[in-house]
Amino acid sequence: MSDSGAIDPTLYRRTLGTYPTGVVIVSADAEDGPVGLAIGSFTSVSLDPPLVGFLPGKGSTTWPKIETTGAFCVNILAADQLSVCKAFSSKDGDRYASTPWRTEVSGAPVIEGVLSWIDCSIEAVEDAGDHWWVTGRVLALANARDDVGPLQFFRGAYGDFSPLPSS
Ligand SMILES: Cc1cc2nc3c(=O)[nH]c(=O)nc-3n(C[C@H](O)[C@H](O)[C@H](O)COP(=O)(O)O)c2cc1C
Repeated sequence: MSDSGAIDPTLYRRTLGTYPTGVVIVSADAEDGPVGLAIGSFTSVSLDPPLVGFLPGKGSTTWPKIETTGAFCVNILAADQLSVCKAFSSKDGDRYASTPWRTEVSGAPVIEGVLSWIDCSIEAVEDAGDHWWVTGRVLALANARDDVGPLQFFRGAYGDFSPLPSS
């Protein structure tokens, strides 16, 4: 049974959709090969100790495969990687078919062309309603590109970052 109380789901989605996010691919080297999914709920958590977090849905078919490996890589997408975002949020097709990758420290795929990557071990997985809250401990990370902005998601549409004139 739904426990949304007096909150209308359409209003919830429309309102929360006004908060812009970046897009990352959370990847792992699973038993049957590389896996990953597009995630907008990624955030930095703590510097000391170095922790990050994100929220996979409880209906995700990819998250259980990532969890089994005990590690993951956060791939922060650049604005010129919309096709990667679409591949990793679609239920159809081989997500890695046209996506070159390599590995760094955790063994999880680091997707070529990302703005930055963050290799993590899984520190904690906690219940968060219809999602899981996953805390990752940072093992290694790098800012790989400075020539392009981040891929952004706002009100159901994708965009690029443009600084205000005064900034
Ligand atoms: C911009 C964007 C942000 C997303 N953010 C999340 C997220 O934070 N958590 C989540 O579980 N799915 C998120 N998704 C949806 C998954 O990428 C999508 O459901 C994908 O098909 C994962 O399915 P799978 O786990 O069954 O492979 C997002 C999709 C897009 C396009």
